[in-house]
Amino acid sequence: CYLGIDLGTSAVKAIVVDEREAVLASVSIAVPVPTHPLPLASEQSPESWWQAVEAALDQLAAGNADLMGRVRGIGLSGQMHGLCLLDAEDRPVRPAMLWNDGRAEAEAEDLQAEGQALARQLGVPAMAGLTAPKLLWLQKHEPESLARAKRLLLPKDFVRLHLTGHYVTDVTDAAGTWLLDEETRGWSDAAIRRIGLDAALLPPVVESPTDTGTIRPAIAHRFRLSPTTVVAGGAGDTLAGGLGIGVVNDSSSFVALGTSGQVFVATERYRPAPEQAVHSFCHALPGRWCAMTAVLNGASALSTMSRLGGAADIATLLEEVEAGFTGPSDLLFLPYLTGERSPHNDPWARGVLFGLTPDSNRASMIQAVLEGVAFSLADGVAALNSAGIQVGEAGFIGGGARSRLWAKIIASATGLTLNRFADGAHGAAFGAARLGRMAAGGGLVATQPEIIETIAPDAALRDAYQPRLAAYRSLYRTLKPEFR
Ligand code: XUL
Repeated sequence: CYLGIDLGTSAVKAIVVDEREAVLASVSIAVPVPTHPLPLASEQSPESWWQAVEAALDQLAAGNADLMGRVRGIGLSGQMHGLCLLDAEDRPVRPAMLWNDGRAEAEAEDLQAEGQALARQLGVPAMAGLTAPKLLWLQKHEPESLARAKRLLLPKDFVRLHLTGHYVTDVTDAAGTWLLDEETRGWSDAAIRRIGLDAALLPPVVESPTDTGTIRPAIAHRFRLSPTTVVAGGAGDTLAGGLGIGVVNDSSSFVALGTSGQVFVATERYRPAPEQAVHSFCHALPGRWCAMTAVLNGASALSTMSRLGGAADIATLLEEVEAGFTGPSDLLFLPYLTGERSPHNDPWARGVLFGLTPDSNRASMIQAVLEGVAFSLADGVAALNSAGIQVGEAGFIGGGARSRLWAKIIASATGLTLNRFADGAHGAAFGAARLGRMAAGGGLVATQPEIIETIAPDAALRDAYQPRLAAYRSLYRTLKPEFR
């Protein structure tokens, strides 16, 4: 068997699959929501991540007495770009600064002012949520934290440290730091120099399927795992998600809609396009890269707005929207609650509900939220297209993909045909389990799961969305100066 662990922003998901990739067990444990101690900041405590992983493994071990003992390899996946600094005793020197932490916006702007040469090497323009600008922010605002730091890890690598005692990261997570030379897949001396970073802080970087060592005896004992279980390099959640649905060959694509959202195209050579805020990152297999656009507010925008709408649960709300659906909502929603990365690279952007009248109701508001997220993904597709990267028929994954209605709206707003898969045998934890398999010598499996439904754009809805998308873009452009 193989175990995949995905450290998300809202939950840790762990899944055990057998040699034929049947899902034998899966659990999900909530992670405390990020805190926002300063404007634009977003933090979580690394200890709370490990506690959630412990709870997930306890639950798996309790559910099936001999299952854990059959696990040969573990793969890790996790939220990317988080800055996790440890002291000499491996204790976090401060809470981790997350992927949606925008406080380093001035530092990111300074780095952008250097021009495109570094951005082309590092896969993406400097943006506030990436790891390196946050290091510059600490140099300026919290030098004492940096002075105590002996190690820098990405979030899932903190879990690996607990499991194996080793400091290692993988190329896909390193890719999101703005410190990796994406083409050669090694740390970039130029970036390290520019940030003024002590290179000794950085862990070795390996390919995602690499065996990074066996688990510690105490971990084996505690979770009833075999002491010979190995842990793979692992991957950032988006890349693990891609491997999980077999999106690894040139031009294969997917749209992911979790807390955040991505439009992702696999590439067989490195294709930087920083001018469009495209993220050109190493993929989870050697010799593979991706081009993706990342939106910061996906299903998280829906949960915030349903809370404001006073709804009992999101499923009921979606039914309300579906029952009254006749065409585009008369409201427009900009989903930028925590700023936006692609294509605006604007940490200051905020959510906007536009066009309210006395007749507006909760259903039209929530429909506008679904459409606003769909328009932000359409902007992502447009950014990829203008960089010469075509998005083909795409897999549709993540929590948001459970909604057929949202799939129809996204297909029509973006023009993409979306494939939905059965629940369970896909997702970042599933892709991570595939890496666990490779590390344990079980070989590469990168097949696509069974498609349960294909959702093509609805021609009439597509036409109706075109002017709404134009209005959505114009609303952002008009309000941009007001956000700061
Ligand atoms: C990708 C990205 C997300 C985060 C959060 O650039 O920011 O994948 O890892 O899930």
